[in-house]
Parts: sequence; structure tokens; C-alpha cells
Amino acid sequence: MRKQIAAANWKMNLTLQQAEALMDELNATPHRLSENQEAVFGVPFPYLINIKNKLAGKKNVFVAAQNCYSKKSGAYTGEVSAEMLQSIGTDYVILGHSERREYFNESHAMLAEKINICFEYGLKPIFCCGEPLDIRETGKENGYVETQLKECLFHLSAAQLTGFVIAYEPIWAIGTGKTASSEQAQQMHAHIRAVMAKKYGAEVAGSISILYGGSVKAGNAKEIFGQADVDGGLVGGASLVAAEFAAIINSLK
Ligand code: PGA
Repeated sequence: MRKQIAAANWKMNLTLQQAEALMDELNATPHRLSENQEAVFGVPFPYLINIKNKLAGKKNVFVAAQNCYSKKSGAYTGEVSAEMLQSIGTDYVILGHSERREYFNESHAMLAEKINICFEYGLKPIFCCGEPLDIRETGKENGYVETQLKECLFHLSAAQLTGFVIAYEPIWAIGTGKTASSEQAQQMHAHIRAVMAKKYGAEVAGSISILYGGSVKAGNAKEIFGQADVDGGLVGGASLVAAEFAAIINSLK
């Protein structure tokens, strides 16, 4: 049974004090995770150790970096390597978020390298894909997302993709308050699974957790997560509010 995941993406928000207070508040807010469910906290690099410590002893709860560099080590001032992340106990790395593709010019080729280095150091990628508004409006979203999958993932082995995590985030729904309808989410998630099945077979495709991202909140999570091919969410704004994120965790199926 593939994992159902509620992943927080704090982006570049919160001071350390605010972050720790948020985790304390979340810990005090009733939420539960069953055997096949996970909560993942995608936090800024400087807080990974602190938040990991806050989660110590808790089951099915993990931390994620929001990026890493594609090279092993060396003269890359300001970058953070996969090995560094591994050495502090990081579990996941969010890769290919549309904000990184857009503001930091991350290409398919660079993302493929970043995924490779994560595998090399035992970090689990959360690979983001999703189309901009003009592509959706011209009905070309399936092909657009298929290209992202092919260019960034198709060099990987079936073993590497077994239990892999993909986040579908339509760019027009990120931070806009405009959520894809549950039908739109299901349609694209089914398409992503079909693309992966065509290349790797139904068993591998069926093991991949496909998260939806884009204005997920307590009020819509249950309906979106209820779709057959939606295995949870990657949550920005609402993950900064303890009660919202606790309710989102409780909406996992
Ligand atoms: P949002 O962000 O929930 O604030 O729309 C989602 C994301 O960008 O991961």
C-alpha cells in the first residue's frame, strides 16, 4: 500500500523562535498518523536540526530540506550538499518546486542531477511538477507534465522509483487561493500514474505517492485527498498554522 503523506512546505517563512512555537502548538493539537501515513516538514536549512529534535521519538514524522545542490562538494559558495543534509539526519528533499524552476532557473537536467545525488546519499526526493496557467488554458497540461516527468525521472531505475514521491502542483493554484477542483487533481494524478506505468509498469506506478499541492487547506483537504490517485498534499500557506496543518494531517486517507 503506497504511503499517504501530508508535507509542509514552509518556504522562506518564520524565524527559529516562530518555527519552534509552531511545532509546539502542532504537537499540542490533536492529530494522528496511522501505519501508512506520514507527516513531513519542509523547513529552511538553518532549522533542520532544531525541528528534527522537536520531532524526536515521534513515529512517521520526518524533516525535508527545500533544495540541495547537484554537486558533491567544493567551491560552490552558499550551496548545501546532499551529504551535509544526510549528516544532520535529513529524510526528504523537495526538488523542482516551481519557485525554484522560475526564480533560480533550475532546468530539467539540473533537477535530474539533484535527484541522483539525493539517491547517492540516501535522501528521499519529493519531486515537484505542474503547469503554468497559460498551458492549462490551452489544454496542454498533460503533455507539459509528461515532459517534466520524462526529462527528470526516466533515467532512474524501477527500484529507485518504487515508493517514490511526486508532488503535482499546478502553478496557477500555488499561493493564489485558487485550488484545482478534486476532478482536475484526480485527472492529472491519474495521468502521472499512467505515464509512470507505461515506462515502469503498473506495480512501480502504483507504489508512487502522488501529492497534490496548491492552496490545500483544512477546508478542502479531505475532498482532494479522497480522490483515488491523490495520496496527500504538499502544503505551503496552511502549513504555517498549527490547527490547519493538524486538520490536513487528519484528512489523509
Ligand atoms: P500553497 O503552496 O499551499 O501556499 O499554495 C504550495 C506549495 O507551493 O508547495
